[in-house]
Amino acid sequence: MNQEKSPNAVWHHATVTRARRQRLNDHRSFVLWFTGLSGAGKSTLAHEVEERLHRQGRRTFVFDGDNVRHGLCADLGFAAKDRAENLRRIGEMSRLFVEAGIISLTAFISPFRSDRQRIRNMFAPGDFYEIFCDCPMEICEERDVKGMYRRARAGEIPGFTGVSAPYEPPERPDLRVFTGRDSLETCVGQVLALAATAMRGN
Ligand code: ADX
Repeated sequence: MNQEKSPNAVWHHATVTRARRQRLNDHRSFVLWFTGLSGAGKSTLAHEVEERLHRQGRRTFVFDGDNVRHGLCADLGFAAKDRAENLRRIGEMSRLFVEAGIISLTAFISPFRSDRQRIRNMFAPGDFYEIFCDCPMEICEERDVKGMYRRARAGEIPGFTGVSAPYEPPERPDLRVFTGRDSLETCVGQVLALAATAMRGN
């Protein structure tokens, strides 16, 4: 978004740059953007990957759908335009975190390709990685960790992703993990391999 409502705001150039922060941290910063159905395991995977990276001494932060929606995005619902705005804010926020030298992990359904593409376009190559948590709908529904699918089927939650609203799977994600089939450990290993490459920047 441009500065439609604040044309006189002036960008202040910091002397402590991203490059200097990255040097201090001894690794590059970037976004790992997890997408998938509710219950596909995005948060579990993102937090476990963060745990491992943290133990390796990396700077990290997880943005999670359920907690961001209590604060930063508490004014938004689940209509397509609200989801787009939700994701735009997370995209902008993670861009700031990348500028701050932090590996930002985001766990949002992000069901629409156009929204995900818009976010990808906000980043330079090597700064944004889309990770598709591929888990069949039946497994998500069977797990139903939060009881949401049952309520959606009962008609209590309109426009629920996978039940009464679409999920558009990524066509060319940077990584596809099979969270309904493979163990958490396997998926974590695959994401860590991607992160290791991203940290070096090659
Ligand atoms: S997104 O579509 O904007 O990316 P987000 O990841 O923030 O969604 O929030 C998804 C979580 O909100 C789900 O895991 C579920 O707990 C809850 N939720 C509530 N209503 C809906 C809905 N209509 N569709 C999907 N998830 C919903």
